[in-house]
Amino acid sequence: MHPDCERILIPEVEIRAKVVELGRRISKDYAGKELLMIGILKGAMIFLADLVREISVPTRYDFMAVSSYGASSKSSGKVRILKDLACGVEGRHIIIVEDIVDTGLTLNYLAENLNSRDPASVKICTLLDKPSRRIKPVEICYKGFVIPDEFVVGYGLDYSERYRNLPCIMVLNPKVYMNKGE
Ligand code: IMP
Repeated sequence: MHPDCERILIPEVEIRAKVVELGRRISKDYAGKELLMIGILKGAMIFLADLVREISVPTRYDFMAVSSYGASSKSSGKVRILKDLACGVEGRHIIIVEDIVDTGLTLNYLAENLNSRDPASVKICTLLDKPSRRIKPVEICYKGFVIPDEFVVGYGLDYSERYRNLPCIMVLNPKVYMNKGE
């Protein structure tokens, strides 16, 4: 285990099994259709990379980046698009892929934004859900794990750009971020 982490919350083998399960569900639900998976940078990159390989229907993927305000921020709720899609979404079946839904501000905004571009459908897939901190409602169609209100890192999730490459989801030791204004 990483020395900055308190404990393993979700081991690698459980993530793997969940990704396979989600991939099967998505493949079944979208049988006969073509998918556009939209990964939200940077956290969802690893999840998206594993997930698309478990999907058997024709699938494209692209990425968006939005302004991030940290997990415990008292944000105004404004979300800014830093990097938009390279492709159009009109008439396409979209699944937005996120690492974690926390306050819901990011995905509430993104779902609305993408819906306004006339896609055939928009669904949300997230590896982790922290429902206790929700401010804005988010309809999650594909969910990996519901987790308690603790700051987690690994499998794409970071603290100050670190720990993204850890293979499992770990609870970060609060000592790491205490007194740092986060
Ligand atoms: P939301 O808009 O509050 O739902 O925030 C979503 C974003 O906050 C995620 O994409 C993460 O970047 C970040 N975030 C929220 N909770 C955590 C956490 O426990 N660890 C790492 N990042 C987190």
